[in-house]
Amino acid sequence: MTNAMRPRAPRVPGHPILGCLPAFRRDALGYYRGCHARFGDVFEVRFVNQPVVTIAHPDGIQRVLQANHRNYQRAPFINALFIRLTGMNLFTLDGPSWLTERRLLQPAFHRARIQAFGATMVAAAERLLEDWRAAARAAGGTANVDMQAEMRKVTMAVVGRSLFSVDFSGDASELGAAMLATTDFFEFRSRRFLAAPAWVPTRRNRDLSRAQGVFRARMQALIDGRRSSGDARDDFLGLLLGLRDAETGEAMTDTQLRDELGIMFGAGHETTANTLTWAWHLLTTHPAVLERTREELCRVVGERSPMIDDLPALPYLRAVVDETLRLFPPAWAMSRQAIGDDDVMGFRVPANVTLTLLPYLAHHDPRFWDAPEAFRPERFLDGAGPSHPFAYAPFGGGPRKCIGEQFALTEAQLILATLLPRVDATPVGTKAVEADTGFTLQVADGLAMGVRVPER
Ligand code: HEM
Repeated sequence: MTNAMRPRAPRVPGHPILGCLPAFRRDALGYYRGCHARFGDVFEVRFVNQPVVTIAHPDGIQRVLQANHRNYQRAPFINALFIRLTGMNLFTLDGPSWLTERRLLQPAFHRARIQAFGATMVAAAERLLEDWRAAARAAGGTANVDMQAEMRKVTMAVVGRSLFSVDFSGDASELGAAMLATTDFFEFRSRRFLAAPAWVPTRRNRDLSRAQGVFRARMQALIDGRRSSGDARDDFLGLLLGLRDAETGEAMTDTQLRDELGIMFGAGHETTANTLTWAWHLLTTHPAVLERTREELCRVVGERSPMIDDLPALPYLRAVVDETLRLFPPAWAMSRQAIGDDDVMGFRVPANVTLTLLPYLAHHDPRFWDAPEAFRPERFLDGAGPSHPFAYAPFGGGPRKCIGEQFALTEAQLILATLLPRVDATPVGTKAVEADTGFTLQVADGLAMGVRVPER
């Protein structure tokens, strides 16, 4: 059958003007789950006048991200929003300029380099532990914290130290607030078809410009500080400053530098913080899993600080992180646009159409996972794991797979290895923990916990 003769994916009926937008805004995950159950693995939804082919099956996700990746690029609507928020960088570039950038930046994330960041990751977690110890003492035993905010603080510190060799603790709250304003804006704008242009001084536009001013100033200060110090450090910032265009021999402009530093700052801490927050939620609500993780840590690490070389001997801890990313993948959806016609799982995908890939649904699909809703790290032990390579894709796949995968996995394991044996954390309150799909998949409204740090 020629491609033109293949059927289009089934269309999901929706609101006559807005299409799926109202249902998507109410509960995006619930909406997609319902569509998957009723219409199958590939279906078409409409956001106002924009048809979007939506793919829930690992075969289809693999086709787009890997097997026929040359036929796909970033989706214009969502990428334009990312460009407005973060500029032109590894995440937002496409085509040959993306490939050049990726090749240039890849060395900063080689395994050998990540190895060198281990001590920084543990030190950041130990500083947090000391903060908690002091807060708990001052509160008479237990300190109440928002675990999500705490995990953002620690992952921000790690990115600052390991990629830029700076201490962000002095401006953590200003940078944190700027990050929140940016993700809020994304959440708002990605769910509306019409919104005031950037020059209209609405509250959101003003909040965003203020946040962008904070990032611009902070990233520029990093660049200026490094240049004026004459320090030739070979961290990520040093790598960027040393890059020269192969043809013109020119260095990156300050705007290019700021945009690359900014995306590594944002992508480098937010997603890992969410993973850690979900891990705390899952571990504190599954005491047997927590006990087994602690027991492994006690046996392998004992009283000393964990090290990166311990990680191969901590398979259960790694399985906890993998299983957390399966249940709550921060990048729960990815977008693309088809360049030419394609055939995805027997359906015609016409040129220029937008696609949404839903690893979240593949991660929860009973055809690929036993008891998919259960938190069972054991399923990743002893070489077991997904029965299809794209049934598990928390870091995406193909050439645009997350550049920070090893960094994030190492960081999540080392932070948990440092904190879990030394901290007693308990959920506070009776409010059910819910997932918010706004920017990345995160706990809605923070995660209230009581933390105690028993003296040893
Ligand atoms: C648990 C943590 C993380 C998760 C779940 C995650 C997830 C992802 C996913 C799914 C993609 C692919 C998006 C797509 O194809 O549309 C991606 C890309 C990317 N990630 Fe991550 N990420 C994490 C941590 C990090 C870290 C630590 C960094 C940097 C230090 C980082 C930097 C990036 C960048 C720059 C890209 C764009 C790569 C490209 O297009 O070439 N990420 N990430």
